Amino acid sequence: MIIIGGSTSKKLAKSLSSELGISCVEAQTKRFPDNEGYVRIDTALDNEEVVLVQNTYPDEKIIELFLLQDAIHEFDIKKLTTIIPYYGYARQDKKFNPGESISARALARYIELLTDEVILVDIHAKSILGWFTKPVREISGMTQIGEFLKQYSPDIIMAPDKGAINRASSVASVLNSDFDYLEKTRLDEHTVTMKAKSLDVKARSVVIVDDIIATGGTIIKATDELKDQGATSVIAACTHGLYTSGALEKLNSKCDKILSTDTLESETSLITIAPEIKKILKQKVS
Ligand code: R5P
Repeated sequence: MIIIGGSTSKKLAKSLSSELGISCVEAQTKRFPDNEGYVRIDTALDNEEVVLVQNTYPDEKIIELFLLQDAIHEFDIKKLTTIIPYYGYARQDKKFNPGESISARALARYIELLTDEVILVDIHAKSILGWFTKPVREISGMTQIGEFLKQYSPDIIMAPDKGAINRASSVASVLNSDFDYLEKTRLDEHTVTMKAKSLDVKARSVVIVDDIIATGGTIIKATDELKDQGATSVIAACTHGLYTSGALEKLNSKCDKILSTDTLESETSLITIAPEIKKILKQKVS
């Protein structure tokens, strides 16, 4: 088996290669003067099981993913597994108005053309898995988030809404801590409100866990609520640290710490999901 890291996922590809004890090839990428992309894999992949790691975010990385899959198929490979740590376009997972594209489905259709299987991480909606006709598996970042949080010994893990309670419970089970949820209502893509709810957070250290931090609106409102109710510290931890519109700056002034996994590489992505990918690849291989 050999790992190919696309430009979005160089660190994760390296962590995965040391976790699995197999080699990793960094794809060469460049841009032509007209800004079109170019990729090259300068290591022979014949007879290999290839694992490609690349996000579908931002837009130009989607094209890079397709070019990488194409370049990999220039060799006589045994099998290609495409890992998409952060699946961009997942949030348009249904038609909200007539005539709209279901972008999560459109991507699935193209991604699976040149791969044997797909692995996704904490996908926005489970229904997206159903758009793939080839084998697709989802892994979660929550166990590794829990492992990383052991050094902080938090008293309670909080989900921002009831729908995310399973994430808080997964993290809490690693830490053997309490868990609960806030009551979030989303008004639009930039605005959320928290309904009043009494929480057992007075004089306790809290971690809010979520799949994604985008504008940061959810975490900011949740942190305000938790601190108003007497929490001594609030750490925010997510799988995908997307941080749009200056979110990280705002979050840093509110929370005691911001953490994310390496599905999206940034200054907060201190937690690697490589051990979770290893578990699933081992299952498949054996
Ligand atoms: C919602 O379904 C997600 O789990 C996140 O809570 C949400 O996408 C976070 O977005 P933002 O950071 O913009 O509030």
